[in-house]
Amino acid sequence: MAFYATAVRPLLFRLDPERAHDLTVRASELSGRSGLARRAARRALAVRDPRLRTSFAGLDLPNPLGLAAGFDKNGRAVGLLGALGFGHVEIGSVSAWPSDGNPRPRLFRIPQDGGIVVSYGVPNDGADAIRARLDRQRPAVALGINLVKTNDPGRPAVAPDVYEDYARSFAALQDRAHYVALNLSCPNSAADRDFFDELPRIDALLSRLAGCDPRVPVILKLKPTRDAGVLREIVAIADRHPFVAGFAINLPAGKPPDLALSAPRATLDGMPGAVGGKPVEAYVNAILGTLAGITGPGGRYALMAAGGVTSADDAYRKLRLGATVVQLYTGLIYRGPGVVREILEGLPALFERDGFESVGDAVGADRV
Ligand SMILES: Cc1cc2nc3c(=O)[nH]c(=O)nc-3n(C[C@H](O)[C@H](O)[C@H](O)COP(=O)(O)O)c2cc1C
Repeated sequence: MAFYATAVRPLLFRLDPERAHDLTVRASELSGRSGLARRAARRALAVRDPRLRTSFAGLDLPNPLGLAAGFDKNGRAVGLLGALGFGHVEIGSVSAWPSDGNPRPRLFRIPQDGGIVVSYGVPNDGADAIRARLDRQRPAVALGINLVKTNDPGRPAVAPDVYEDYARSFAALQDRAHYVALNLSCPNSAADRDFFDELPRIDALLSRLAGCDPRVPVILKLKPTRDAGVLREIVAIADRHPFVAGFAINLPAGKPPDLALSAPRATLDGMPGAVGGKPVEAYVNAILGTLAGITGPGGRYALMAAGGVTSADDAYRKLRLGATVVQLYTGLIYRGPGVVREILEGLPALFERDGFESVGDAVGADRV
């Protein structure tokens, strides 16, 4: 951790954020090809503790911490990422067709707030290329594949094209995944962001995917909303589709006033996009709490929560609110891969303090 903070991060932070990211993914891809490197990473970073074992959407996971979508959009580095100690790794978002995403610059740091601003617009190599890549390289842990509609500014999002787009990538990739997450609200593809605000379209999409013979659990990554009525309606739609196994919450678009941002407005105005990291933590946690109240204890739905997790306390808070698994991305940028071990070593101590024997006991302890 200290080495990352004093030696690696200053070097990376001198580079343009997207370039730093691309270099990190490339380095991870190359080192992940070596069994020696993967074993060394696992030895240095993985934590084995039976109290961390958990079950998520029918999958047995060694721990409840995962890598969130967006870090490895193209499934290039799953070999190494699967050796960093995460209990699962989610790649994507992947779309049916390749896409360049939005014009650059499209990634910005807000170091004073521990945040990242992202307006990538889901660039990726497309489902076929990523499927071929996954045939050559599989992670040692559960793999989630996050799907999104192809970002094509020239073609507005209309039904049924949108459903066909998801169906194509779903059919191409479900057999490579342990679970599939459907990104229903990329905050940065302006044309598509609000398509599923008309909730019957979620039902239409799921009905289309039912025709693809779903063989893996499906997670709906929702546009964040504090409107409990909307969340209740979405859960009622999911109830009609047995392959839907849970929900995740995406980043809000833009800079809603209730994010914890201290950076000056003028600075933020020069950073188009959605905010990830610490500034969204409380915002996402409030929605997680509402959602957990709706899905209830012991129900069929798992909840996956990301947003500002950089410590064991942060991850624990989300578990207690009702998250079945917790993910992070921005924490990796600010704290380096050692943060995974730090969180996983810290969680059992928190369980013990509060009289829980394992993850399952802590999940939903603060559910309202
Ligand atoms: C640079 C960046 C790119 C992202 N790309 C995606 C994406 O392609 N698909 C997606 O569903 N979420 C994406 N996300 C959202 C993350 O998966 C996660 O939900 C969010 O960043 C909150 O976690 P964090 O605060 O730990 O970063 C992205 C986030 C960041 C910061």
